[in-house]
Amino acid sequence: MNEAIRPGQGTSSQATATPELSVVVPTFNERDNVGALFRKLEAALGGIAWEVIYVDDNSPDGTWDVVRALARQDSRVRCLRRIGRRGLSGACIEGILASSAPCAAVIDADLQHDETQLPKMLELLQGGDADLVVGSRYIEGGSADSFDSQRAGFSLLATQLAKRVLRVDVADPMSGFFAIRRDRFEQLAPELSTQGFKILLDIVATAHGSLRIREIPYTFGSRLHGESKLDSMVALDFLGLVLAKLTGDVVTLRFLLFAMVGSLGLVVHLTALAVALDLFNWPFPEAQGFGALVAMTSNFLLNNFLTYRDQRLKGFGILRGLLLFYLVCSVGLFANVGVAFSVYDQEPIWWLAGAAGALMGVVWNYAMSGLFVWRKR
Ligand code: GDD
Ligand code: MN
Repeated sequence: MNEAIRPGQGTSSQATATPELSVVVPTFNERDNVGALFRKLEAALGGIAWEVIYVDDNSPDGTWDVVRALARQDSRVRCLRRIGRRGLSGACIEGILASSAPCAAVIDADLQHDETQLPKMLELLQGGDADLVVGSRYIEGGSADSFDSQRAGFSLLATQLAKRVLRVDVADPMSGFFAIRRDRFEQLAPELSTQGFKILLDIVATAHGSLRIREIPYTFGSRLHGESKLDSMVALDFLGLVLAKLTGDVVTLRFLLFAMVGSLGLVVHLTALAVALDLFNWPFPEAQGFGALVAMTSNFLLNNFLTYRDQRLKGFGILRGLLLFYLVCSVGLFANVGVAFSVYDQEPIWWLAGAAGALMGVVWNYAMSGLFVWRKR
């Protein structure tokens, strides 16, 4: 064993031991699980110098506060509190990037993963046999019996889809339990998606076969405290990841959703226009303006709910965002008409010019909305 690596014993040696393993734990509303997991890690990782980084997305239940208290007692514990961001993948990425050991493992906070497998995972990485070790439910010796039938079905379907479409050769690419060499991870990190749940699938697909992967079985347990954050949106995220990887990140889920909301906006616009003309008997220009306003407002709300749900604007921010969105879309309309005009000038085909203008409009609106309305804080 490496001379410099000593197990942490008592506070003084803890500070000097260089960690061999960084454990990254994404948390959202897990305050009751933080301490239990820590004690389990302590029991499982005897003889290994390790650190643990809890990455908390500003949980309303104050998980970060519990982690901070733990960190004050034990310097192997760190708390990364992210504000204004949500997402399991992004949390794992930031946690691994903030770690210092040559090897990093990701494990759920809710004790559903089997921390006693960590030493074996580390050994495989350190022995040079693998760059990535996956905790797998779908190989001999592993199981996901705690899943209800609906969840099990969806998990298997997604696994098959990922394996076929993205040609990922791993039995359990949906696993949230894995260990990776940090140097390999840092090479891939700039290309990983921060949205969604499926960071392992993303890592494997992005690596294009360049990682040596080993899988070890484990049993997916039941949650101790709190509840799962997986909802129907996760399916959407998953499809988005498949799509992005298939198109070499040209088409992102966010852009597709934005465009979809925009198309729906056209329907909203025409409906509002018809109502204003027929029901209110407004003159056409006023009715058209009304239609545009209704469509922009509903587009904004839908985008805030769906497309940018991880950066959702709240409270006063909604009003400010809405006004900015009106502005962005108004300029977008000029861009739309301008492009359509110049295409029509060259080639007087109405649908081609119209489509070119519309595409210009949606690309403009998307780019500018990302910059000004839902800008990353
Ligand atoms: N920081 C952060 N931000 N953590 C999050 C977020 C988030 O937005 N959402 C979930 N987490 C944390 C949870 O607190 C938990 O520690 C872990 O991520 C897993 O979330 P769960 O809500 O418990 O998910 P699950 O048990 O339904 O799903 C697990 O199994 C899947 C396999 O079917 C996870 O391990 C998934 O990664 C895995 O794919
Ligand atoms: Mn869970």
